Amino acid sequence: MVEDASVKLFSPSTMKLSRRSFLSSVSLAAVASASSHASSLSRFNHTRNNSFDPWIEVDKKALLQNVQTVSALAKSRPIIAVVKNNAYGLGLEYAAPILESSTSVVALAVVKTDECFTLLKAGVKKPIMLMALPNSEQDEFELIRNGVQLCLFDKDCRKRLESYASKLGSRIKVHAYIDTGMSRIGRRFNQAGPWLSELTAARSIEVISTFTDLTEDNAYDLEQVDRLKKVVLQTPSLNCKLHAASSYHAFHAPGTHLDWIRPGMALFGGYPDEAKESQGKLVPSCRLKARVVRVEQLQKGDSVSYGRKFIAEQPTWIATLPVGHTDGYPRQAVKGVRVLIGNETYPVIGAVSASHTIVNLGAERKVNEGDSATLLGQDHPYILPNRVAQIADVSVYDIYMHLNPLIPKFVLE
Ligand SMILES: Cc1ncc(COP(=O)(O)O)c(C=O)c1O
Repeated sequence: MVEDASVKLFSPSTMKLSRRSFLSSVSLAAVASASSHASSLSRFNHTRNNSFDPWIEVDKKALLQNVQTVSALAKSRPIIAVVKNNAYGLGLEYAAPILESSTSVVALAVVKTDECFTLLKAGVKKPIMLMALPNSEQDEFELIRNGVQLCLFDKDCRKRLESYASKLGSRIKVHAYIDTGMSRIGRRFNQAGPWLSELTAARSIEVISTFTDLTEDNAYDLEQVDRLKKVVLQTPSLNCKLHAASSYHAFHAPGTHLDWIRPGMALFGGYPDEAKESQGKLVPSCRLKARVVRVEQLQKGDSVSYGRKFIAEQPTWIATLPVGHTDGYPRQAVKGVRVLIGNETYPVIGAVSASHTIVNLGAERKVNEGDSATLLGQDHPYILPNRVAQIADVSVYDIYMHLNPLIPKFVLE
């Protein structure tokens, strides 16, 4: 199914694209941000791709299906799609336009100044929220000038915003970030009332929403939401939206859904802690793939990789995949994670090194050099990101967010 699907090819503009064999049946649509690469690569079929660099497939249908699932969990409340940290590994310029195309998504949120500029360059039209302070006042002004909505919490922001507004001759839309108990970022809830009133009183500033982060402690989350509501009640003239819920709360805490919800991980197909498929089906939105670079038969006593953690007890076929922990595949995969090649899965053995992973094929040679392998994806229960995370004993957030941003991306339509 994966191998025959239509794909679009993108590559980060900063990355040099290695020339691949672009053959056969699928059309390649150029996308604004990558059109210069794409235009020379009009056909692509990665079953016959002879490159040995790993690649990531971004699955458009899966992303949009996850938006629907999350929207249903939140009774159709509008979604602020959190696309921080390179869209959870999928690549901002690829995932954000797809998410933006859903009518359920009303804004995109990131936490780094540069990610705002990347989204602007990618042509995102829906509001972009920066849930952090900009790198500098110059960046701050540039972001505002380009319509990025800042999430503010510092004491003196009103003065700065008023000066930007008078330079631009327009009102500035912002969000008020309140710390209700996470103690991470935001204006402390017990000092926020007068600050918010002052911000609201400024004619050149429009406070669109007031929001907070929740700790994912079920009882305390509700207390936090109460604190947020109380802050807003201190400014009766303020007419803004409230939001707090992330993926975890979409699944577990309807009492925190407020006006908008603000999920990230679930949109990308990763279940938050203790969430079940019966509550809402999520589909992994990317595949990490690589091509088998070598197949060998070990003899009894031969060892595999650093530390010789695997010693063959009998003649054993192994396959080497040119993808490793520098690409984001977890070192802990040796704890029992399996890789899909063809219709079968094979266990990772020895050690995951920076650029290589070795799998045990068993007594028979069932795999050939050049076969494509899927290390993460939706195509088999053993390679689901949540399953890999569970077996490797890491967080599913690490699985997605540690994907190396330099890996080439292909968008499956
Ligand atoms: C402020 C904020 N809101 C929402 C999210 C989305 O969280 P999740 O990916 O768990 O849905 C994040 C991500 O960590 C965040 O930092």
